[in-house]
Amino acid sequence: ISATPAVTPAATIAITVVGSVNLDLVARGSRLPLPGETVTGATFARHPGGKGANQALAAQRLGAAVRLIAAVGRDSAADEAMTLLHSGGVDLQHCWHDDRQPTGVALVSVATGGENQIMVAPGANACLTPPRLPDDLGASVICQLEVPLETVCAVAARQPEFLCLNLAPAQPLPHATLATASLIVVNETEAAFFGTELDHCPGLIATTHGARGATLHQHGCQIATALPPTVAVLDTTGAGDAFVAALTLALLEGQPADVALHFACAAGAFATTRHGAQPALPTRREVLELLGRP
Ligand code: RIB
Repeated sequence: ISATPAVTPAATIAITVVGSVNLDLVARGSRLPLPGETVTGATFARHPGGKGANQALAAQRLGAAVRLIAAVGRDSAADEAMTLLHSGGVDLQHCWHDDRQPTGVALVSVATGGENQIMVAPGANACLTPPRLPDDLGASVICQLEVPLETVCAVAARQPEFLCLNLAPAQPLPHATLATASLIVVNETEAAFFGTELDHCPGLIATTHGARGATLHQHGCQIATALPPTVAVLDTTGAGDAFVAALTLALLEGQPADVALHFACAAGAFATTRHGAQPALPTRREVLELLGRP
C-alpha cells in the first residue's frame, strides 16, 4: 500500500461518540491471574479510559472534531477520567454528572507482553438512557456496548448517515440495529459471539486479529486485509479503540478500504507501544510516521 491519508485532512470531519467514560485502575504484572489465583508483584497506575472516551479522544487526535455524549458521577474520579478529553479538545457539552451513580471504573490487569484482562463497573454509564440523547446527533456517530443497549438501538433508529458500531463488549443486539450500521468493528472473540449473523448485515465488517492485522468484509466477502507495522508491544489496552476511531475517520474522509484499514491497523499498533488507554492514543502524524510516510 503506497497511499496514506494526508497529514492534514482536506476538511475536518465531525463525529459524535455516544459511549462510556471510565477511570482505569491498572495493575501491571508478570502474567495474568488464572480464575481464583492471586498474582503479586504488580505495579499500579490510574488512567482515563472507557471505550467511548477512548474512541472520542482517538478520533480527535487523528484530526476529527469530536463531540462525546456520556455520563460520569459527581465525584473526583470524574475529573480524573475526563482530564485528557478536556485537554484534547473533545466537545464535552453533552457529558453530564449523574448524582446517583459513581463514575465508571475498569479494573485492568496487564501482563508483560501487553495482554490484558478488564472488568468494568459501569456506574454512571448505565444512566446514559435514550432520553439523554440530544435531538441532533450529527451525520456520523460511533457507539460501543458499554452503555445501555436501548440507547445504542435508539441511536441506530435515528439512522445517522454513517454509524459505526463497535460490538464491545459482545452482547446480543436486534438485527435491525446491526443492519443499520455502515461499519461494524469486532475482535476475534466478538466475531465468534455474533457468528454468521454479521454476514447478513449490509455494512462493512472489520475484524481485528491483534498482531495478525485486520480484515474488512462486506456481504460475507473479504474486500481488504492489512497487517500492522511491527512494534514493541507494552500494553494493548485501548488499541481496539484507536483502530475503531482511525477506520471510521479514514472511511469518512473517503479513503479506499485498503488504505483506511492500513491506517487503522497502524493506529492500533501505535497505541500498544505506550502504557494506558488514553495516554497511548496516537496523533495523526504519529500514525503516518509509523506507516513510513516522511
Ligand atoms: O477498550 C479499553 C477500555 O475498555 C478501557 O479503557 C476500559 O475502561 C474498558 O472500558
